[in-house]
This record gives sequence, C-alpha cells and structure tokens, in this order.
Amino acid sequence: MYNFTISDNGNILSISKNSENPKRFHAVWLRDNAPDSKTRDPGNGQRLITLWDIPKNIHISQVSISDDRLKLTFHPDNKSIEYDIQWLLDHAYDTTSKNRVEGWTASHIEIWDSKLNNAIPSADFREVEKSPSARQNWLQNIAKYGFGTLKNGPIDDLSLMRVVELFGYVRETNYGRHFEVLTEINPTNLAYTGLGLQAHTDNPYRDPVPTIQVLYCLESSAAGGENMVVDGFKAIERLRNESPAWFEVLAKYCARFEYSSNKEATLRARRPMIELAPDGELIGIRFNNRSTAAITDVPFEDMQTFYDAYRRLGEIIDDPAMEVTFRLSPGECFVIDNTRILHARKAYSGTGTRWLQGCYADKDGLMSKLASLDNQLNEAR
Ligand code: FE2
Repeated sequence: MYNFTISDNGNILSISKNSENPKRFHAVWLRDNAPDSKTRDPGNGQRLITLWDIPKNIHISQVSISDDRLKLTFHPDNKSIEYDIQWLLDHAYDTTSKNRVEGWTASHIEIWDSKLNNAIPSADFREVEKSPSARQNWLQNIAKYGFGTLKNGPIDDLSLMRVVELFGYVRETNYGRHFEVLTEINPTNLAYTGLGLQAHTDNPYRDPVPTIQVLYCLESSAAGGENMVVDGFKAIERLRNESPAWFEVLAKYCARFEYSSNKEATLRARRPMIELAPDGELIGIRFNNRSTAAITDVPFEDMQTFYDAYRRLGEIIDDPAMEVTFRLSPGECFVIDNTRILHARKAYSGTGTRWLQGCYADKDGLMSKLASLDNQLNEAR
C-alpha cells in the first residue's frame, strides 16, 4: 500500500510504502528521470532530452496511483508521465546512510588481511574460459577482493592475452602490449636479481593509472620468489584507525610520481597516495617508493606529518599480518586491481630461472564483463 503527498507548491513528492519512512523526490529529478519513450530511448536507454528542455519552474500539478504505477502531471509543460513506484523507491536518494566515515568502501568490496591466505580467490583457467557462471564467479571475486588467481592454464608464449580476453582488452603502454619479467638466478647475480621487491602499486606515474595488471608464469625453477599481495584499502583503514590526521594528510595532498627514461618516455602524475571521491569513498591507493618524485604540494606546516604518515603506511604495508602469499607455477597467473592491491615478490633462495609475462588492462572493462554476465545469467534463471 503506497501513500503520497505533494508539498512545497508541487516541488516535492513524498512516497511511502506501508508504514516505512517516506522518501522525498524533487519535481526536476522526477521529470529528468521520466521513463517514457520521448524522454528515454526504449532501445538503448539513452536520454533524449537535455535539462534545458525542462522548464526551470517545473512542478507537479496532479498525482494519481493505480496498482504500483504512479502518474504525475507536470506544469507548465502539462506533460503526464507514468512511473513504476518500486523503481522510484529503489532509486531514492532521500536516505540517512549518507553520513559515512571518510574512507568508506563500496558495498561489493571486502577488505582483507593475511587470514585470506586460507581462502585465496582462485579458479581453473579452462573452466573460466568455458563456463559463463565460472567466469562470473571469478570476476566477482576480483571485484570483491581486488585480485584472483587462475590455475591450469597453457604454458605458451603470450598465454596472458587469453586471460585478458576473458574480461576485456589490453592497455598498451610504452612498455608495449606486454612486458617480460625474466630472471636468471645464479650465485653471481643473486645479490641483484634475487632481491625481494617491496609491495607497491604499478605505474603510479601514469594518469590514468593502469587499473588491472595480469602476471602470468611460464617458468619457475628457482626456489623462493613467491608473489605476495596486500590489500591497500585494509592498510589505509588501519592507518585511519591509528591516526585520522595521518589518513587525512595523505588524502588531502597530492604526491608526485615520475618515470623518466630519456629516449622512451617521461611520465609524471600529481595524485594523492590515498584517493577519495568527493563524498569520502576510498577509491584508490598509489604507493611506490621507487617512482615517488620530490613532493612539493604539501605545505611546509604539514610536511612532517605527511612524512610520518607515509612512513607509517609503509610499515603497515610491510607487516606480515597484512600479506597473502602464493607461488605461481607455470600456467598460473594472477590478476590484480592496481588501484587497490599492492604486489611484491619475495627474495629467491636458490638458482634457476623465473619467467613471467605481464600486461595491463582496464577495470571498467572487467566490471562491464561482470555486469553483462550478471544480466545474462539472471535472465536465464
Ligand atoms: Fe610491479
């Protein structure tokens, strides 16, 4: 049973279902979101009018309800439009949940620490390639945890391209469509190539940053060299809980990142280490010691706090309680959300060869593939 009231001279419509709290809508919002075929293309859902086609003084002059449909007449253009009431309630913006803490995360995300070692999101390459529901499940896990591994893939040159084809397209950079990570580990070069790498996000000097990275193992005969991932969003949550001022200083000011190779490229980005949407949603982390340039956008008064915060964030990232570790065998790979997950390689402890191929791709493509699979599989049910 729906109830409605009109107030503010026809500017506000309130709808309530049974005894639930009423939800308020503005006349201009309702008119702009009208579902009729003259406002929205029934085929592709694109809006056919501009806001300037709607009179500035628009208001609701008449309302009627039959079953679950609401019919509104707007003045001064005298246009009558029918709405599905449930659609309106599903899209209500008159909610109290908007007072969220700075650094809140989207509801489909689950942040994690080393306990996830017992449940690393993983799937079988061939199944994910063949079965839409296996692919949906794997992509859902990447959206939720920020990474996922695949096992039992082919051990052929450029197999990583088949992984990208599961959800999107390669993002080519000055490193090419893909890059080689080939390490010969022997006693003479062990000190250099066998070093572990600190957890980092890739290419923070690009804007936009590559949002997905794929690393695919083709050979792995050296001991050690495990891959390690850390949830940057969990690290940021810990930092915020320890000191809101540290969280704030890294979110408020831009750091600078740079990669310069004289012939090839000079890449620079001015972005914060903790990236928030204007409403406080945590949307990204950039953390890479090797490519952080001189930071000059922090006022003198806040620079010491900035460095204290940067140091502490690094310590949290390095804390073993944060890391999930796995060893890639030939034919195995992992896909990470480079806006959220930091990755690292542990040191080697023996001799041998390790050959990985890596490439970048786009997260919007991955999310789009997941959404289409959701639609397709929900329809089939
Ligand atoms: Fe990397």
